Amino acid sequence: MSNRLPVDKVVEADGSSEWRVSPGGLVTALEPIMSASDGAWVGWAGIADDHSEPFEHDNISIVPVTLSAEEIELYYEGFSNDTLWPLYHDVIAPPTYHRDWWESYVSVNQRFADAAASVAASGATVWVQDYQLQLVPKMLREIRPDLVIGFFNHIPFPAYGIFSQLPWRTQVIEGLLGADVIGFQRVADAGNFSRAVRRLLGYTTKGSTIEVPITDVSEVQGAPHRAKTSRRGHQVRTVTARAFPISIDAASFEELARTPAIQARARELRHELGDPAVVMLGVDRLDYTKGIGHRLKAYGELLADGKISVADASLVQVASPSRERVQTYMTLRDEIELTVGRLNGDFSTISHTAISYLHQGQPREEMVALYLAADVMLVTALRDGMNLVAKEYVATRFDNDGVLVLSEFAGAADELKAALLVNPHDIGGLKEAIMKAIGMPKHEKSRRMRSLRKRVIEYDVARWSKNFLGALADQTSAQSSSDAA
Ligand code: G6P
Repeated sequence: MSNRLPVDKVVEADGSSEWRVSPGGLVTALEPIMSASDGAWVGWAGIADDHSEPFEHDNISIVPVTLSAEEIELYYEGFSNDTLWPLYHDVIAPPTYHRDWWESYVSVNQRFADAAASVAASGATVWVQDYQLQLVPKMLREIRPDLVIGFFNHIPFPAYGIFSQLPWRTQVIEGLLGADVIGFQRVADAGNFSRAVRRLLGYTTKGSTIEVPITDVSEVQGAPHRAKTSRRGHQVRTVTARAFPISIDAASFEELARTPAIQARARELRHELGDPAVVMLGVDRLDYTKGIGHRLKAYGELLADGKISVADASLVQVASPSRERVQTYMTLRDEIELTVGRLNGDFSTISHTAISYLHQGQPREEMVALYLAADVMLVTALRDGMNLVAKEYVATRFDNDGVLVLSEFAGAADELKAALLVNPHDIGGLKEAIMKAIGMPKHEKSRRMRSLRKRVIEYDVARWSKNFLGALADQTSAQSSSDAA
């Protein structure tokens, strides 16, 4: 289950419609498992008031959940993306708290839970994805105690001092604890969650295990083996909360990168940029968490200082449109585009543009060509659950060339230690890192890239889903065996 289905319904001007595959690693990772186990994907079709019937797509049954225009405003744009999103990203933008947004979040989560409850087979495994659906695990367990329930949070989970701002903090924690396994990107996120559980509910936590008291036998109805007796003599259900860093389908990126047509396109891109000595690249959803403004500031200062010139260093910034009806995103777009315009006005020449700015999503092939063309990849997020762009760049660079400049505030920094790690708030430090990346000797680039690639290729998205589902299976069978013992 996820807020968005792996396919989007697109309605043309003449009223006809079609389903388009939304690009994303999650589908690639889950497709083999889902089709092998007769799986269903429950989610929203991406448009208002759509009442499509369930259908089959690539051996997966697609189960659309309807959202009204008002729910898109209150549940999706409001509570999910103007309350939870800024709160969970360390309040980089101020979160807004509205009771009617929360009420809509509750009722939409209930609708998702009902939809899953009606399609899941007896004893089935249900894997709920991301912050839009945090109440689903508890709601689903209430209707279907026989199910095995996993939850994965793709974004950060904040420290208690921040999380505790949320007026509905206890309900959110209780919602999540309906799952058997709760996965996070970083060890620190799982720690923040466990701390919130202790502070708000006083439950015992030990390492990654949380003991959730059973107050009503119906909670384990149909699966009595899930209950065990705690050391203090209470009936509890154990929940695991730990890190499972997500990844990408690394092999498919490398395969594209090895395609002659894409390599030719990479050369062509450099040529079209005026054959600068250094091409730098930023690729993000246009989101205030991504630190695009900090990146542009550092780049602009390097140009102003005369450390680099547009003839020898060019920046390409892909900023894909996102959540365009949320005010913070509109303001961000204005700010970024003002900065880009100013820098181009101040520094571009007729033959060399300081920043090639694209406010458009790009097809996967073009992205890979851009990664291959980029000498320096700039990932300067102020806070990011993981940042898959960093991993995509690494997976693409089978030539062991290129330098990744990576924010320590992106989850990827926990794994990609051979990158040039930066604090994007420190503009001086960021400028130094960019200069170091530009001047890095070939042998050092190659050494770092080899080490990065080892990690990304080994821990790919298939391994991520296998690890999570394995932990879910172990957790539920461990409970039954401890009960038998
Ligand atoms: C992040 C979230 C996803 C979300 C995606 C795109 O990666 O973790 O849950 O789907 O952004 O955002 P959108 O609001 O367009 O679904």
